[in-house]
Amino acid sequence: MLERFLEVFSNSKVVAVCGAGLSTASGIPDYRGENGVWVKDPRALAGAHIKNYLADVEIRKNAWRDRLSSPYRGARPNIAHYALDVLVQQGLLDLIVTQNVDGLQRMAGTASKKIVEIHGNINSSLCLSCGHTEPMENTLIRVEEGEEDPRCLIEVDGSICGGVIKSTAISFGQKIDPELIRNVQYSLERCDLILVLGSSLTVNPVASIVVKWVRMGKELGIVNLQPTRYDHLAQYLFHEDVGEILCLLADTLVEF
Ligand code: OAD
Ligand code: ZN
Repeated sequence: MLERFLEVFSNSKVVAVCGAGLSTASGIPDYRGENGVWVKDPRALAGAHIKNYLADVEIRKNAWRDRLSSPYRGARPNIAHYALDVLVQQGLLDLIVTQNVDGLQRMAGTASKKIVEIHGNINSSLCLSCGHTEPMENTLIRVEEGEEDPRCLIEVDGSICGGVIKSTAISFGQKIDPELIRNVQYSLERCDLILVLGSSLTVNPVASIVVKWVRMGKELGIVNLQPTRYDHLAQYLFHEDVGEILCLLADTLVEF
């Protein structure tokens, strides 16, 4: 299967669809894998809903406290991100659609127009009242200095906004920018092969969009350490580490 996969990959328009498994080697745990954060602590899932975040100051305080010592802070891209970037640079990959909010694919150097961060990212913080954004580190410094639930300091109509602040990552219950979804649909419509890397394919819209295009005839490759619910739809299935498969692709197909 591997040889056939390499051949098809090099002769197809390919879109990569990435999930948390891409960043586990950077020290960021996934959500639903063997050591997933929601497998170990299902309560964390409640804080991931925007309604709870807005309504409950304790959930916000917890979120900010966790963020200070979070593995996201200071994380670096790993070999899988760099291999993906090489494949993009060589024209072997059309687009990287990532559900990850860690910003590591961009940090690996991938050009903005070749990547869609469909769930946003945690590199900035956003005021949910006035829409002001600023670098996440600025907000984290305020938390480090003792503000447990930092609020927006922007002056609006002569008074301080005071709105609740959150990262620019999408929470459950928040709307994804329709422009991002259009971008993804546009690329998937034009590709031949969808390569799902380190995602359990349980979260919409990505899961449903991928399945829609596969049912419409696109080929599907899946790389995941564990089985996923759509393994039966895949022509190319590797229960392997994403870094290994991506390095194999880059080593075999890229002329340095
Ligand atoms: P999941 O945690 O659901 O799935 C990650 C998958 O990666 C699991 O199936 C693991 O088996 C697999 N995996 C882990 N390490 C791997 C490795 N080194 N090589 C290969 N596979 C590996 O994460 P996602 O599918 O990305 O949303 O989850 C989708 C969304 O759910 C996330 O973007 C997040 C969450 O709600 C938001 O943050 C909005
Ligand atoms: Zn504000």
